[in-house]
Amino acid sequence: MARLLCFALALALPLRVLAASPKKNVTDIVPGLYENQMAFTAASWYLPYQSKLTDTENATTWVQIDLGSNASPVEQVQIYPLVQPHYWPETMPYVSFAFPSRWKVEADDTDSFNNPTMLIDRTGEDQPNPRDTIQTIPVDRKQSAGRRYLRFTATKLGISIDGQHYQLGLSKLSALSDGTDIAEGKEVAVDSALGNSGVVNLGSDPYNADLPISNSSALTRPPRAMGEGVITDNPENVIDPKDWNPPQLLASTPLSGVKLGDGVIKTAMVDNIGYLLNDSMGSVDKLVHDFLARAGKPTPSNLNYPVGYWAQYQGSNAARFLMGASNTLRWIDNDELRSRMEAVVATIAECAEPDGFIMGYPQDQMFLGEHAAYTRAWLTHGLIDTGLTGIKKAFTLLRGYYDWYNKYPLLKHLMRGSVQGAQGMVANTLMALSPVGTPRDANVVQQYFQMNFWRDGLAARDPSMIWQYPYDHPHTYLSTNMEAYADLYLLTGDQRYHDMLLGYWELFYKHWIHIGGSTAIVEFGQYPPDSYRLDGLTGELCGNSFWIRLNQRLHWLDPDNEAYTNQIEQSVYNVVLANQNGDKGIIYHAHLVGQKDFEDPAVSAYGNGMINTCCEGQGTRTLGSLAEFIFSRANDRSGIYVNLFDTAAITWSTPDNHNATLSMKTQFPFHNDVHMTFASSSESPVRANIRIRVPSWAARPMQLSINHSNTTITGYPGSYLSVDRKWSSGDTVSFILPAEYHLEKYTGEYEIPGHSRYALEYGPVLMGFAGALSNASISVSGSKPSSLIDMLQGSGQPLHSSIPGYDSYEVMPYWQIGHQNFTCFPVLDVAS
Ligand SMILES: *[C@@H]1O[C@H](CO)[C@@H](O)[C@H](O)[C@H]1NC(C)=O
Ligand SMILES: *[C@@H]1O[C@H](CO)[C@@H](O)[C@H](O)[C@H]1NC(C)=O
Ligand SMILES: *[C@@H]1O[C@H](CO)[C@@H](O)[C@H](O)[C@H]1NC(C)=O
Ligand SMILES: *[C@@H]1O[C@H](CO)[C@@H](O)[C@H](O)[C@H]1NC(C)=O
Ligand SMILES: *[C@@H]1O[C@H](CO)[C@@H](O)[C@H](O)[C@H]1NC(C)=O
Ligand SMILES: *[C@@H]1O[C@H](CO)[C@@H](O)[C@H](O)[C@H]1NC(C)=O
Ligand SMILES: *[C@@H]1O[C@H](CO)[C@@H](O)[C@H](O)[C@H]1NC(C)=O
Ligand SMILES: *[C@@H]1O[C@H](CO)[C@@H](O)[C@H](O)[C@H]1NC(C)=O
Ligand SMILES: *[C@@H]1O[C@H](CO)[C@@H](O)[C@H](O)[C@H]1NC(C)=O
Repeated sequence: MARLLCFALALALPLRVLAASPKKNVTDIVPGLYENQMAFTAASWYLPYQSKLTDTENATTWVQIDLGSNASPVEQVQIYPLVQPHYWPETMPYVSFAFPSRWKVEADDTDSFNNPTMLIDRTGEDQPNPRDTIQTIPVDRKQSAGRRYLRFTATKLGISIDGQHYQLGLSKLSALSDGTDIAEGKEVAVDSALGNSGVVNLGSDPYNADLPISNSSALTRPPRAMGEGVITDNPENVIDPKDWNPPQLLASTPLSGVKLGDGVIKTAMVDNIGYLLNDSMGSVDKLVHDFLARAGKPTPSNLNYPVGYWAQYQGSNAARFLMGASNTLRWIDNDELRSRMEAVVATIAECAEPDGFIMGYPQDQMFLGEHAAYTRAWLTHGLIDTGLTGIKKAFTLLRGYYDWYNKYPLLKHLMRGSVQGAQGMVANTLMALSPVGTPRDANVVQQYFQMNFWRDGLAARDPSMIWQYPYDHPHTYLSTNMEAYADLYLLTGDQRYHDMLLGYWELFYKHWIHIGGSTAIVEFGQYPPDSYRLDGLTGELCGNSFWIRLNQRLHWLDPDNEAYTNQIEQSVYNVVLANQNGDKGIIYHAHLVGQKDFEDPAVSAYGNGMINTCCEGQGTRTLGSLAEFIFSRANDRSGIYVNLFDTAAITWSTPDNHNATLSMKTQFPFHNDVHMTFASSSESPVRANIRIRVPSWAARPMQLSINHSNTTITGYPGSYLSVDRKWSSGDTVSFILPAEYHLEKYTGEYEIPGHSRYALEYGPVLMGFAGALSNASISVSGSKPSSLIDMLQGSGQPLHSSIPGYDSYEVMPYWQIGHQNFTCFPVLDVAS
């Protein structure tokens, strides 16, 4: 998800054109970049200090640190500015906010500063903005010796974050004595007029929630685990390909050989084709515009090019199209989709630079915003999946590009300097795993992007590693990083990656997966464990798209663990389908109460904000892939796994090279009966192990009848039932999925005092109460909240019902709710 508010400021300071001089230092390679940048992106633990706002810059405010009695003499003071992530990184050079233009640092024996000693005096004339660099300033040890208090005083204030006022903002102060920060953990005091002491909440606007809090104690916080600078370069993390020992994958996702019949999944995939071909998404001319422009080729005029992500994230529009189209074409043929896909790849190839660079933005914009990483990841996904449809050119282009990228001279700046470590990391590992991958593709991310403190903290199940991740907004993008760590495990077999994945999965599942399966942590704001917000900022579709991919990888490793496919199923019904607006568009957040955000006003205020967001891009990719989640193949060729229930058939090759096909027919979730028929190219019976998921939501054990009741076997909820036998063409398996209505009690920040709210689910399907307001309350006649289920009256349409006494409500699958008011978490009060 992009930083939504950035595009108003986009490209405010265009980069200078690169001079042809020999490349010497960072500034020469990317103007506007410099060596000693601070890794500043805020995280909740590192919220800065902000004074009160004033209307004049001519005001004085101070912060002071008690270094303790017997404090050692200070030889350097370090001042960390405040850099507001919303304004980063689309503006370059980066600027700090609320940094005073005149200031001084003094020491004294007493906290009243009656007799101060001047250590640094910058009050004589206006000082330049320090941008995002840590100011390290030597002081005379003799001057500070024996003085207990250090005071930073601003005498002329900087412009506040809101751009309308003046303020003092700093993110940390250090006092170095023999190289040690003696200010760390020490008490901070502030002046009484403009100072903000302790933790002060400065606003509740969720879209401004990056810096909603001032925390004076944070001025003396300890350093972050990987330091405060932007550079990451850890050659010791590289595992030599000679030592790679990939784990055994027990199952794999079919890349072809699944045929869809009529059902929920096919309908969604066909709607996704409509979306991909819609003119508002773009003709081929629109799709390739950025590549032509970057290559200096003529671009068609009058494209009616919308603002927002489309224009700013150069190349992302084509990448979005490729992600959706290429995945779809593996399952459903469509000539128009295929010819547009081929035309897009051909133009990207025409625009490729001799050194291999293919992106839709110029090379010197690698640091201009998160868009470089965002679009690199999208284009990598899109071209890999295009290559898998048989267009080899897509692989050649990628290989050329990554040969360029892997030698990029500023790799050590990329992770913290342009968010390449978030969306960007998975691009490299996917590349490494692709048919044209090389070990270097993975070694690059180990050296420059890998975070050992995070790996080990997640393995230790430390929740702060998720919601107080110290280097970026703690949000669902963490799941896409986790895909990359999963890939590193698949490539190298290093157990530490695996421990990390399981730690992350468990923490996320326990504390940030909503009832119904959506993700309860998003880009903006604070999301403590179990906070479970229901409206506004929750349930990013891209978060679940990444969660699906992580669970898919875990399924390959441990396919009999039903928990992973259960997460995929919930994400599909309750987020992916729920956020698809037919063939018209793809919705960003999965709000659970109120109204769906078809047109989130906070986003749309900036124009066509909903077009080409991360959730749209990852959404169309996921919708185009839906067919691959239904079945998986056992890698020992012993048979298959049936993961989701829909009308579809899979063909696989048996150990004696016969083709076997299992055809499944069902109208689940509208009807619970499932019928499967086996066929094979062999005259004689064929051995196959067909493992059928018995979902953890099943209300009771599931009876499978083989060959029309000649044989019955029983499977238990939360497992795969293995039916391992010799099969002849025409053999059948039938069962009734034990899906029933059930209630789940809500806990979290949206509890209503004195009452309990519940979600109603039918099997995996989250139900919504359309027509009801967010906090609607239902008086249940019966002895317990679940008596609500007995009150439901079928309305003729499957899974739709009414509730006597609540005529304006219609209970239906959440994914089917449109523009109505609704709640998924009504209060249920037992009337008794
Ligand atoms: C880097 O290059 C820039 C522009 O050519 C120059 O101003 C700067 O002094 C150089 N810095 C270093 C550390 O060489
Ligand atoms: C601050 O004081 C200076 C000189 O005293 C004056 O020029 C400037 O306009 C003042 N700024 C504000 C915002 O009042
Ligand atoms: C304030 O900063 C201190 C020191 O880093 C930290 O322990 C505390 O958790 C922070 N409070 C909040 C609300 O972030
Ligand atoms: C594209 O979507 C718009 C808006 O939903 C719709 O009115 C139009 O008919 C669609 N166009 C095509 C070619 O499908
Ligand atoms: C299996 O299917 C493939 C692809 O359709 C076909 O080429 C092959 O001949 C089939 N094998 C047998 C044994 O029928
Ligand atoms: C199904 O029944 C047929 C005959 O009715 C038999 O030949 C076949 O072995 C049976 N298959 C299974 C899997 O029981
Ligand atoms: C299986 O049952 C069918 C009828 O339901 C019967 O015709 C068939 O002979 C039975 N097959 C075996 C192997 O018992
Ligand atoms: C719903 O109830 C919660 C908790 O009492 C309250 O904070 C919230 O404002 C209410 N929402 C609406 C839309 O009334
Ligand atoms: C949703 O509820 C509000 C009252 O909170 C009402 O004004 C509005 O008309 C309702 N919208 C729909 C689509 O029913």
